[in-house]
Amino acid sequence: MELSSLLWAMWYILPAYVANASPVIVGGGRPIDGGRLWRDGRRLFGDGKTWRGFIGGVLLGTLTGAVQYAITPDFYGSLKTALMLAFLLAFGALLGDIIGSFIKRRANLPRGAPAIGLDQLGFLISALALAYPVKTLDSGQIIFLLIVSPFVHWGANYFAYKMGWKSVPW
Ligand code: CTP
Ligand code: MG
Repeated sequence: MELSSLLWAMWYILPAYVANASPVIVGGGRPIDGGRLWRDGRRLFGDGKTWRGFIGGVLLGTLTGAVQYAITPDFYGSLKTALMLAFLLAFGALLGDIIGSFIKRRANLPRGAPAIGLDQLGFLISALALAYPVKTLDSGQIIFLLIVSPFVHWGANYFAYKMGWKSVPW
């Protein structure tokens, strides 16, 4: 496996990382589930999934794609492809994040409780699945992202915790 192919995989996935990280800063306000409960009597998603976080994350992730196109136009071919890819990566990441919270609430885990695997990979798998039709990665690149993303996720969360943006380091 070429180093450059792994670096391109990191470049490819960047909008998903940006989308997943930005709600920590731009999130807050009205929760997506509007306070509603599932039939088990617990919250659908919980207070950690807000509209502001979701929409802000999709916008910032998509904007990342525009910046990426300006830096490496040949990687994308067209601005439209870059924006479409970034939008699907960002939307997919935050959709996967919400699905993860839905699963956590069903498992009776309170908001903010860690769920190893789900927290680090749920958003990534969902982002990759949505973006794949627009621009594919090879299997080596996908495996590489599955391996490095948990470390990026932990690093970013630890940083956010140290900065006082999050109350827990996960
Ligand atoms: N956030 C948000 N809207 C989203 C996703 C995240 O506002 N759609 C913000 C919330 O303030 C959240 C923080 O980003 O607390 C960290 O996100 P995350 O770790 O995904 O949420 P948790 O609080 O851990 O909640 P959960 O247990 O449901 O994962
Ligand atoms: Mg969390």
